[in-house]
Amino acid sequence: MALRLGDTAPDFTAQTTDGEINFHEWKKDSWTILFSHPKDFTPVCTTELGYTAKLKDDFAARNTKAIAVSVDGLDDHNAWLGDIAETQGTAVNFPLIADPDRTVADLYDMIHPNADNTLTVRSVFIIDPANKVRLTLTYPAATGRNFDEILRVLDSLQLTDGYKVATPVNWTDGDDVIVSPALSDDEANALFSAGFTTVKPYLRTTAQPNK
Ligand code: BEZ
Repeated sequence: MALRLGDTAPDFTAQTTDGEINFHEWKKDSWTILFSHPKDFTPVCTTELGYTAKLKDDFAARNTKAIAVSVDGLDDHNAWLGDIAETQGTAVNFPLIADPDRTVADLYDMIHPNADNTLTVRSVFIIDPANKVRLTLTYPAATGRNFDEILRVLDSLQLTDGYKVATPVNWTDGDDVIVSPALSDDEANALFSAGFTTVKPYLRTTAQPNK
């Protein structure tokens, strides 16, 4: 069955380009982006992995690790890394899981037979430090993902875990946020020193509280 938000991310042990990894031990107390790509030596995947490598400092600032998976073997992964470094201007600095027997793909339901019977689709899982699945995305093979959006979701998850707020459409870090509808006006006044604006009783905005 497909993983749902709040489910525990399945654990596994796998061979990767950084050696054998036990997933839960490897991620420890970090947030993690686990993402699948259809196949090594393909153009869209090459750009995605290169761009993700460039985000290393952005992920580190968010206590987040990246790890990628496809059903290719380790020899192909290692050979492809050279192409990514050559063409994308960055060496891949996170592990690629070799999953030729589909252990990880099956655990995370990354093979969608109506798209392709054998290859993983472009799945993304954001997993929190308690190993809970906090976001799932599925993209088709021909559409590269927007990894800036993944950073934006991480910012929102980390903010809304810490404060009684929600983030509005197209929010980015630093923008005003929405006061949790669960709070009364009195509670909101006590929590948000900047005060808040009532657009409708159910739509109240305030400055981002951790800025
Ligand atoms: C790609 O990564 O470029 C790709 C992979 C599978 C199908 C289509 C494109």
